[in-house]
Amino acid sequence: MIIVGVGGGIAAYKACALIRHFTEAGHQVRVIPTESALKFVGAATFEALSGQPVQTGVFESIPEVPHVRLGQEADLVVIAPATADLLARAAQGRADDLLTATLLTARCPVVFAPAMHTEMWEHPATRANVATLRAHGATVIEPASGRLTGKDTGAGRLPEPDQIAALADVLLEHPGALARDLEGRRVVISAGGTKEALDPVRYLTNRSSGKQGYALARLAAQRGAHVTLVAGNTIGLPDPPAVDVVRIASALDLQAAMAEHAAGADLVIMAAAVADYRPAEIAQTKLKKGADGRSDALETITMIENPDVLAGLVQSRRDGGVRADSVIVGFAAETGDAQGSVLDYGRAKLRRKGCDLLVLNAVGDGRAFEVDENSGWLLGADGNETALPLGSKMAMAARILDAAVARVGAAR
Ligand code: CTP
Repeated sequence: MIIVGVGGGIAAYKACALIRHFTEAGHQVRVIPTESALKFVGAATFEALSGQPVQTGVFESIPEVPHVRLGQEADLVVIAPATADLLARAAQGRADDLLTATLLTARCPVVFAPAMHTEMWEHPATRANVATLRAHGATVIEPASGRLTGKDTGAGRLPEPDQIAALADVLLEHPGALARDLEGRRVVISAGGTKEALDPVRYLTNRSSGKQGYALARLAAQRGAHVTLVAGNTIGLPDPPAVDVVRIASALDLQAAMAEHAAGADLVIMAAAVADYRPAEIAQTKLKKGADGRSDALETITMIENPDVLAGLVQSRRDGGVRADSVIVGFAAETGDAQGSVLDYGRAKLRRKGCDLLVLNAVGDGRAFEVDENSGWLLGADGNETALPLGSKMAMAARILDAAVARVGAAR
C-alpha cells in the first residue's frame, strides 16, 4: 500500500495525477492530506481517486488507531507537495495531525517532494530541516526550477507528477536507489545522440532517446552529486531538476564539452550515442538539386571519422587532463552474430576503450532504443560481470551508480 501525503500548497492539485499513476499501476493508495491541503483540493477528489476514505486528524476512527495501522501497512510514503511547514513538523517529529503521526510509525521508504517559494526553500531553517530528514533516512527530492505561484520563477517548484512517480517507482524496485552516497562528488554524464550537419538544414543523427543518460543524471543529483549533463539530441526530455545542462550538437562539440567538464570530475559516464563518422564538409549554404534534378553532393556524401571521445577521456586520465582517480563508465549497444555473442563483443569493447565499467545492452528487436525498459550486463575492468535484469531505465541507472560509487575513490 502506498500512502500519498498532501501538504497545503498550490501544487496540491498535482497530487491527483500522482495518485492516479499509482492506482493505475495496481497499487492500493491511501491519501492523507493536511487540513490546509483540503483548502486547495477537496476530500471528495482524493476519495474518488483512491477509492478510500480520507481523514486528516488523529481523532477520527479512533478504534482503528489509523496512524499506527497505516504507517505499519505502508510499502512507501510519498508526500507531494511537502510545504516548508510540513518539512519542519516532520523534521521535529511532531505528531499533531494524521500525516505527521503516520510518518512516525512508518518504517518503509519515505519520499518528500518539496514545493515552496525559492526564498523559503533556500532559508537556513528549511535547509536544516531537509538535512535532518535526510539524516533520518528519508528521501527529499530536489525541487524543479521554473514558474512558481504568480509570476516568480526559481527553485522550489514541485517536479511534474510523472517525475515524482519515476523516483517512487525506482524505490519500490530498488530500495537503495536514492541513497545520498554521491554527496560532494562531481559527476559528468553525456546523453542522447549527436547531430552531424550536412548543410544549414540537414543533419545525420541516430535513434538514441537520451532516456538512460537523463535517468542517470536525475538519480546522481538525487544521490547528492553536482551533476553536469552534456546533452545531445533527445526526444524532448525535460531538464532534470538540480542538474547543469550543457547542450551540444556534433561529436566534436561533445569532445570539447567533455574535455572541459570532465577535468575535475569524480565520475564520468558516456551514455551518449556518438556518430562514428561525420560529413567531410559542412556546406555553408543549402545543398540544392541542379537543373537536371540531381545533386552529386547529396547522392554521395563523403564521411570522415569522428574522434572516440570515451577512449580520449581514458587517455587523458593517463596524461593528466582528467583526474587520475576518476571513474570512467562507457556504454555499448551490441548485437550478436555468427562471429560472437553480445557478451564477447562487450568484453572486447571494454578492453579496447580502457574504461572502468561498461554498460552492455543487447539491441535489435525494439530493445534499448526509445523504450522505457532495458536489460544487459555491467562489465568491470576488474573482471566483475553482473547481469542487469530487465527493468526501468531508472532502476538500471540505480544499479550503474551503485557499481560506479563502489569504485569512486578506489586506487587504480
Ligand atoms: N563513443 C565515443 N566516441 C565515439 C563513439 C563512441 O565516446 N566516436 C562512446 C559511446 O558514448 C559509448 C562507447 O563509446 O560509451 C561505445 O559506443 P559504441 O557506439 O558502441 O562504440 P564504437 O566505438 O562506435 O564501436 P562500434 O564499432 O561497435 O560502433
